[in-house]
Amino acid sequence: MGRVAELAGVSVRTLHHYDEVGLVRPSARTSGGYRAYSAGDVERLREVLAYRRLGFGLREVAELVGDSSTDAVAHLRRLRGLLLERRDRADAMVAAIDRELEARARGRMVTPEEQLGMLGARLYDAIGGAYTATRRTEPRIAAQIVDALGDARTVLNVGAGTGSYEPADREVTAVEPSEVMRRQRPAGSAPCVAAAAESLPFEDHSFDVAMAVSTVHHWGDPIAGLREMRRVARRVVVLTFDTDEPGWQDRFWLTRDYLPEFATVLAEFPSLAGMADAIGARAEPVPVPWDCTDGLFEAYWRRPEAYLEEHVRRAMSVWTRVGPDAEQRAVRSLRDDLDSGRWAERNSDLTHLDTADLGLRLLIA
Ligand SMILES: C[S@@+](CC[C@H](N)C(=O)[O-])C[C@H]1O[C@@H](n2cnc3c(N)ncnc32)[C@H](O)[C@@H]1O
Repeated sequence: MGRVAELAGVSVRTLHHYDEVGLVRPSARTSGGYRAYSAGDVERLREVLAYRRLGFGLREVAELVGDSSTDAVAHLRRLRGLLLERRDRADAMVAAIDRELEARARGRMVTPEEQLGMLGARLYDAIGGAYTATRRTEPRIAAQIVDALGDARTVLNVGAGTGSYEPADREVTAVEPSEVMRRQRPAGSAPCVAAAAESLPFEDHSFDVAMAVSTVHHWGDPIAGLREMRRVARRVVVLTFDTDEPGWQDRFWLTRDYLPEFATVLAEFPSLAGMADAIGARAEPVPVPWDCTDGLFEAYWRRPEAYLEEHVRRAMSVWTRVGPDAEQRAVRSLRDDLDSGRWAERNSDLTHLDTADLGLRLLIA
């Protein structure tokens, strides 16, 4: 035990404790009859210590390593994903700190947006690298957006990301604050300005229409951003989410049964009526097709197994926002229900649907 403790960099007391609570029990015997760690025990100890270092509590670790459907390779993959995500987030924070230190050294005032940016608005600098794995234009949603754009010739795409939903046959200008997202825009896509919705660097009425897709919930001040869109464009088209309807959290089985924390993520989000008011818009529902090709949060409502995939979740900001504890719990519980047939039982009404209204709305002004 002493040797294992030394190699792992933990105290013998810690190992005794793991043994007592049944987390890692040395199952082999030495020639002298003492208990010793088998290769399997060492593997398990490594998993326990790695999850602990990532901040999981003992009970959560016990659930994670006790899950018989997750083998050593799956644990390594999951640990790798969690560590990379953490590294990306730390890199983004270090870069933001460096920018602020430089600004302070030059005697420049640092705005509140800049100070808080490293925590919130820079989310996509941290997670944006995983975006293109599953996020792309869904043609049926795009058709609805193009319809709303009407005959607009000049289009401003705010929170443009990697360029999904940008119409190819118009003169498009993109706005995107995350460098990571800007860098992933395909060669030949519309010119992209580094700016945020709340302060658009354009004259009044510079564009026929300003559009924003799946981005408003990330803005520090959504209403200010929408007003800016209204200022710089004659018309506005926004794909967003309706939280006005009572019980909206129950619309989608994923938030209803597995991830109630989604409501907390959107707690500060303005009402659909408030957003519509800010730009004088009407709202129309945007149904999500059962085989939606854009891997947005609601995309896999009829393909629940997709949410078990790490790369699918990494391209959805919700999972990063709720944090690893809620994420792991939701995924475990969904996996259990899929295995036991409980999910299928509860959601049998979905199998016959081709589209679902899960609260996506197009605001058209
Ligand atoms: C889910 S992505 C959507 C990207 C793209 N519109 C699409 O549909 O694929 C959200 C984008 O909003 C951007 N964003 C975050 N805060 C913003 C702000 N204050 N103003 C404009 N865009 C912002 C993020 O950097 C990210 O690229």
